[in-house]
Amino acid sequence: MSLESNKIFAAVLVAGITAMLGGFVAEVMIHPHELETDVVSIEGAPEEGAAAGPAGPEPILHLIATADIAKGEKLSKACASCHNFQKGDPAKIGPTLWDTVGHKKGGHAGFAYSEGMTAKGGTWTYADLNKFLWKPKAFVPGTKMSFIGLKKPEDRAAIIAWLRTLEDSPPPMPSQGEIDAEAKELAPPAEAAADAAAVPAEGEKPAEAPNGH
Ligand code: HEC
Repeated sequence: MSLESNKIFAAVLVAGITAMLGGFVAEVMIHPHELETDVVSIEGAPEEGAAAGPAGPEPILHLIATADIAKGEKLSKACASCHNFQKGDPAKIGPTLWDTVGHKKGGHAGFAYSEGMTAKGGTWTYADLNKFLWKPKAFVPGTKMSFIGLKKPEDRAAIIAWLRTLEDSPPPMPSQGEIDAEAKELAPPAEAAADAAAVPAEGEKPAEAPNGH
């Protein structure tokens, strides 16, 4: 081979390698970005429920009157992919949550609720919202609301306190009677642990009180 054709061959080779590297670099540069966005959007959703919590929702009615409404509004970002909140807003994946607290369950006109929600009946009392938002599928079997739930009692109190403001005439705060009834129904962790110790069946460790209450 002449020196000339060697040079041409080398040039072609270098061009080829450069092109391959270029492609490789492009791959490397594009993929981390795809990953980055995925990780962020996945993180947003299950964050609240990621930590293992107690076996049932804690009572929260006593927290609602003094709950942080601004925090509740911030927390509603976790709901906003599926819910609008303001009067006259259209439904999204879920119904618009204006006029919810104290109103009929599954009662927003123009939304096709699940059978589970339709069958549930009654109104959205504070106590029921606490249970539903703790773990929607546990409180309304068959619900279409695919949301893991808010595991922190203060978070549920804050968002319910904020939801309460979303209507023309917000309902009264929980009464002492309602607060007492809820506290009795949802025995605090200490009592629950004592009960569990008396009947050591379900495979959960009764000795360690969850959550450090
Ligand atoms: C992935 C979508 C999704 C997310 C996220 C979500 N919801 Fe829902 N939600 C729904 C759907 C769908 C329904 C209707 C449930 C049914 O018909 O069973 C619903 C129903 C409800 C209801 C009952 C409304 C009524 O008219 O009876 C309340 C209250 C509610 N959601 C509150 C919330 C709150 C508060 C959050 C955030 C903490 C939230 N949801 C997050 C989809 C969602």
